[in-house]
Amino acid sequence: MVDVRTGYGQWVGSYEQTVEDAMDLEVLARLAVPGWGSVERAADLGCGTGRTGAWLRAQGVGAVDGVDLTPEMLAVARGKGAHDRLIEGDLAATGLPGEAYDLVISSLVDEHLADLAPLYREAFRLAGPGALFVLVGLHPHFIMAAGMPTHFDGADGSPIAITTHLHLVSDHLTAGLAAGWQLAEMREELVGDRWIALKPKWERHRHQPVSAAYVWRKPEQPRPADPSAAGDHALPGGAGR
Ligand SMILES: C[S@@+](CC[C@H](N)C(=O)[O-])C[C@H]1O[C@@H](n2cnc3c(N)ncnc32)[C@H](O)[C@@H]1O
Repeated sequence: MVDVRTGYGQWVGSYEQTVEDAMDLEVLARLAVPGWGSVERAADLGCGTGRTGAWLRAQGVGAVDGVDLTPEMLAVARGKGAHDRLIEGDLAATGLPGEAYDLVISSLVDEHLADLAPLYREAFRLAGPGALFVLVGLHPHFIMAAGMPTHFDGADGSPIAITTHLHLVSDHLTAGLAAGWQLAEMREELVGDRWIALKPKWERHRHQPVSAAYVWRKPEQPRPADPSAAGDHALPGGAGR
């Protein structure tokens, strides 16, 4: 078991041949709410080698800024050229400008985070009013059913696992709502014929959830201040006591 930066630093050479579009890009394509072609600027948190950014650009997204912890993954993304800015850093504190994005996205990253709250909070800070936050990743049920963390084959062919954390669907809902997001759409994808064709051994997982996608919307108006916090028990409509 290795940490994220060590793991992806070693996986980078074979990462794109290993990861299946069915896990994330095909799920994104099935979402109903995002109007990808009308997005002017997106922030791609945990952008990796730029797969997500390249997909977004192909859907008509105007510009994408990316952040990632692993320099080797960023070097591949740089070569791909899908991103305007690429920043090496933690997605919980990106340094990107606040309220500057009409889409924030994070794909195949959340299982590496010990705590979801900082991701949801930073995404909320980056998003402009009415902007979307799209998160897609491994379904927690699948991590439990498969019984193994995210892993890849090392140079000698032996499996190397990268630190993986289990976040239930309710953990996502709790973190998203606490940060101020409103849930606009959610999809859970099951293992079906498409997956069995890619990975015949997954027949034993047929009909089980494999990935989950959440589409959050930032309210146009900031949340009203909690009246009880000010010791004022005003009635709706401002009638007061
Ligand atoms: C499975 S890859 C996903 C990359 C890309 N989004 C994709 O879909 O192909 C996970 C990426 O998340 C990055 N990552 C994990 N934890 C991170 C964190 N706390 N801050 C920034 N990047 C992180 C890793 O370095 C890695 O590049």
